[in-house]
Amino acid sequence: MESKLVSEAFDRVQADAIAALVFLDEAVPPELAPFATWLEELRTSGEFTGKPGELAVLHQPSGSASSGSTSKIAAKRLAVVGAGKRSAFDTAGLRRAVGATVRSLKQKGVKTLAWWLEGDAAAAVEGAILGDFEPDVHKTSSKESKALETFLLVATANAETQAAFDRGKILADAQNFTRDLANEPANLMTPMVLADRARAMAAEAGLECEILDQDRMRQLGMGSLLGVAQGSAEPPALIVVRYRPATAPKSPDHLGLIGKGVTFDTGGVSIKPAEGMEKMKYDMAGGAAVLGAMRAIAQLKPAIPVTALVPAVENMVGSRAQRPGDIVTSLSGKTIEVLNTDAEGRLILIDALTYAQRLGCTHLVDAATLTGAIVVALGSVNIGAFTNNDEMLARVMAAAKSEGEKAWPMPLDDEYKDLLKSAFADLGNIGGRWGGAISAAWFLREFVGETPWVHLDIAGTAWLDESKPFLAKGPTGVCVRTFTKLAMGW
Ligand code: BES
Ligand code: MN
Ligand code: ZN
Repeated sequence: MESKLVSEAFDRVQADAIAALVFLDEAVPPELAPFATWLEELRTSGEFTGKPGELAVLHQPSGSASSGSTSKIAAKRLAVVGAGKRSAFDTAGLRRAVGATVRSLKQKGVKTLAWWLEGDAAAAVEGAILGDFEPDVHKTSSKESKALETFLLVATANAETQAAFDRGKILADAQNFTRDLANEPANLMTPMVLADRARAMAAEAGLECEILDQDRMRQLGMGSLLGVAQGSAEPPALIVVRYRPATAPKSPDHLGLIGKGVTFDTGGVSIKPAEGMEKMKYDMAGGAAVLGAMRAIAQLKPAIPVTALVPAVENMVGSRAQRPGDIVTSLSGKTIEVLNTDAEGRLILIDALTYAQRLGCTHLVDAATLTGAIVVALGSVNIGAFTNNDEMLARVMAAAKSEGEKAWPMPLDDEYKDLLKSAFADLGNIGGRWGGAISAAWFLREFVGETPWVHLDIAGTAWLDESKPFLAKGPTGVCVRTFTKLAMGW
């Protein structure tokens, strides 16, 4: 899908459809004045009143001008889209409204859709690009027939609107890049494939990329990460992608973005039930989000250096797999008793977090599909956010909020730390059934020390089990926009 910002009068826009928002309990907006009678009938019949999620389409629209003559508009269809109450309408609502319109109209054969802009150009183009994404790339039957070809955002041209449009396009394209990575099944998305995709993205975006292989990780002493990897025939990789601003920054701050990259999580010897296990192909969604953010960061060029780290492994069962009770030595030197091989995300993340600090990162954020417990706590609406530093959390929360990605702060009281005690090593890798997302976060915290750090548990938000009107089922690409915003606003 191509997207363009155009400046044109409402009735002159050439498209298969032109869509405009209609707010609840408001007078007909000027561009829709010729269609006031139609809108009034829709309203009295209850078919379309302006509530969010409503859509009505008129073919060959010829309204009546005030003179009594008919006024034809150039677009083949007119679509009105419910926006709800103006007081409750925000950029997230606009993103959803555009997304839902794209998804609905492309299904009806619309190839060129024009959107009459009211509000933020970034959110509008994001909604279109994100709504256009389909996860069925491996279906051989023709998908082309139902793809949108062109999205035209119709707005008054000025530098500010153009900049917002360009930024939204970069962000949404990066988010779809992440969704494509996360969507790939584990046989086609091994740790090495993920590393190759990272390398290709970095080369195209003008970023530096380094892949640490198994030998290098062994030399360094990443025993915790390697313990998880040893059960798989697929070799692990630690992906490092670097962005450096063109002019030396005045501040010493250096942002580290770390993403869990488990390309498939069987649970290992502590094996998972068969039901739903196919979804564990998404267990690298955090890593994919970090790579997508780097793609956007390369184009938007924030002032702060950013280093992304993605520990990529496959958590498998087999004669070489680690066993419950195994004790591994992490890069930090701390020993860990692996009480459950299914708590593997934290084991790979801590070696990446320690390495990030060695690479000079002064502030750390990680994203991980870490625990089923966070899904129990927050469902699929909010990311669980944990921190050792309230100021750092405030920065991340603000970035998330402004991008319409919901996150909710979770506690990390000292009392929870005791859950990780081990009789045989410095700490165990599980904290028992209750408060499982918190003990997982505490495990990470044990390895970041005083470095300001935020952990985002995205187990409930990284993918959709059912499609939404504005988003296909499958990976969401959550965190891409938040991470990019965080870097841009530093
Ligand atoms: N990748 C899973 C967490 C997960 C579960 C993500 C469901 C998305 C949906 C993680 O590696 C895991 O298995 N965690 C265990 C931890 C437990 C063994 C302490 C869990 O949550 O059950
Ligand atoms: Mn697991
Ligand atoms: Zn996992």
